[in-house]
Amino acid sequence: MSPRSSDLGKPPDPKDSIAAHYRERHGSTPVIIVAAPGRVNLIGEHTDYNGGFVLPAAINRHMVIAASPREDTLVCLHSVDFSSDASFSLDAISHDTQAEWSNYERAVAWALQEAGYELRGMNAVLAGNIPIGSGLSSSAAIEVATAYAFRTLNDLPLDLVTLAKLCQWAENEFVGVKCGIMDQFISALGQAQHALLIDCHSLDHRLVPLPAEMSLGICDTKVRRDLVSSAYNERRAQCETGAQLLGVPSLRDAEWSTFEDRQQELPEPVRQRCRHVISENQRVLDAVAALEEGNLPAFGMLMNQSHESLRDDYEVSCRELDIMVEATWEVDGVYGSRMTGAGFGGCTISAVRPDAVGAFQAQVSDKYKSATGLTPSIYVCQAEAGVRLL
Ligand code: GLA
Repeated sequence: MSPRSSDLGKPPDPKDSIAAHYRERHGSTPVIIVAAPGRVNLIGEHTDYNGGFVLPAAINRHMVIAASPREDTLVCLHSVDFSSDASFSLDAISHDTQAEWSNYERAVAWALQEAGYELRGMNAVLAGNIPIGSGLSSSAAIEVATAYAFRTLNDLPLDLVTLAKLCQWAENEFVGVKCGIMDQFISALGQAQHALLIDCHSLDHRLVPLPAEMSLGICDTKVRRDLVSSAYNERRAQCETGAQLLGVPSLRDAEWSTFEDRQQELPEPVRQRCRHVISENQRVLDAVAALEEGNLPAFGMLMNQSHESLRDDYEVSCRELDIMVEATWEVDGVYGSRMTGAGFGGCTISAVRPDAVGAFQAQVSDKYKSATGLTPSIYVCQAEAGVRLL
């Protein structure tokens, strides 16, 4: 694989230019630069808010913040990507209907203060190379980077698990998106060359080494749809109904045998939703075992089954995701593929034999283009460390 081909479609790294952007605006060097990664989920989709298992990895796409403290309580932000400014006072944080991008920073400041942490103002410049709305968690990365910047500038005694939970709470309560914990957790706690098995009920987590014989291929359909958050909340509600009907606190607690015995009592589509979540939890555990045994064909098969379950039972795939996944399945050297993230557009993830990456990019790109008329962005990502100071 040539470095050029693996970088296909990759935008410039904001880490290289953020200090210069900060100097341009503020005439001084930033006190800190924080980078928080996006993520790709290998398996375990729509399980996190059901208290289940997920297996994401942090990736080498980041949200970067250059920041310095202020003497007052103002937070003055500039987004390089949106060419836009926004500022707010820590004394009264409200939503911004103009610079909507700044609501993530507002949300995090609000959540930290609600939780009792004392903050002072800051000047911050932000930039990123995680495509927005692509299912690679640009919003979680913004939240985690912002929280880490506040933590560092204010010397807050905040461990990374608590930081991730506060960021999720910020998104749930201030932004109004009822996401689970996966994205914030992996952006905070990821490790290079590893995926992270997270038990989203107990928040116990364990690193799972990624074998060198497997590259991670991301294919961006370039499709973005607005219905994601309404469909997401609808799925959540259906899962809660399913758990109630099965008499368990959450679907995590439902055994497969209980589901089989009692599935006739569940109305459609609740039955399908339950079948996805309960079977997906088991697939995550099986996938970790397969990775640890170095059984990549078995791992790939579980990814494929996950996609089918998301497509047929959870109904969060879409035509373009299915076309992309099917195009990857046809490539010699692909162990397995699935949609990744919330769905309805965004990206797929494939486990690919490293020597097949070139063919993977060429063949999938051609097939997808001729079937949809859209030009995908296809690249290999590396598993990276979670949030850190540069
Ligand atoms: C989004 C949410 C996550 C998770 C996934 C689906 O990325 O933010 O919490 O629910 O969808 O697995």
